Amino acid sequence: MLRLMDVNGTAAVVSGAASGLGEATARVLAAAGATVVVADRSDDAGKRVAEQIGGIFVPTDVTDEASVQAAVDAAAAAGPPLRIAVSCAGIGWAARTVGRDGTPHDLAGFGTVIGVNLIGTFNVLRLAAAAIAMTEPADGDGQRGVIVNTASIAGIEGQVGQIAYSGSKGGIIGMTVPAARDLASVGIRVNTICPGLFDTPIYGSGEGAEGFKARLVTPVVFPRRMGRPDEFARLVRTVIENDYMNAEVIRIDGGLRFQPK
Ligand SMILES: NC(=O)c1ccc[n+]([C@@H]2O[C@H](COP(=O)([O-])OP(=O)(O)OC[C@H]3O[C@@H](n4cnc5c(N)ncnc54)[C@H](O)[C@@H]3O)[C@@H](O)[C@H]2O)c1
Repeated sequence: MLRLMDVNGTAAVVSGAASGLGEATARVLAAAGATVVVADRSDDAGKRVAEQIGGIFVPTDVTDEASVQAAVDAAAAAGPPLRIAVSCAGIGWAARTVGRDGTPHDLAGFGTVIGVNLIGTFNVLRLAAAAIAMTEPADGDGQRGVIVNTASIAGIEGQVGQIAYSGSKGGIIGMTVPAARDLASVGIRVNTICPGLFDTPIYGSGEGAEGFKARLVTPVVFPRRMGRPDEFARLVRTVIENDYMNAEVIRIDGGLRFQPK
């Protein structure tokens, strides 16, 4: 018999849920019956999303221990057992290792991106895992929950002019197997999704952004367009619901492979 980690009747914490991929994930999980904590540093958007999905907004900076703990505590106290944590909070930083004018990459900027994307993801992973580990097992396998991280295909093949971003995402990919092994004894699965190009506010808005996005999709194999946030969110749900998916790094990119230039 096919057995599923049922999203319905669980609590979930989603970082970066005020926008883009995190927002779509929060909507899909809520529609499937989860009580979702919208953990984001963006107040107005976060409140709006939480209100629309019947969730709970907790203002959260993923780099801050106390604020992530507060988001996890809110999810653990929401009623249904906390079984799901999805990290979508992330930022970009466009700069080359040495700029065209000979200037070396800003070191503080590199640290900022590592801080939000990599350390922030680990912060959510460790605190959510500790809370999920306190729940009763959900099934006969002893499974308690699932953690899904968001990396990027930039963390696999690298992306020109995105060394900080690529490094941070490579770090998330590198944490996947050790985290899954560390958390096996408490029945928590860990998987990482690597999106290609998804149409979200991360690319900005207006004519310039639209032209930029149109150029970006040229090497996408098929379908030759950006991904829709809902396509990402449905993959998150699939990963959560399939009990045998663990320690895996999954691309969702329309066949795109970033080129050296
Ligand atoms: N859109 C893409 O093409 C794409 C591709 C690959 C990977 N990703 C990754 O997917 C994730 C979501 O990206 P998106 O495109 O939805 O971007 P987005 O800008 O639409 O959303 C990111 C969200 O993260 C929040 N956030 C940023 N820093 C935070 C912090 N310190 N604490 C809490 N929240 C914070 C922002 O407020 C925002 O709501 C990111 O990790 C991004 O790197 C996106």
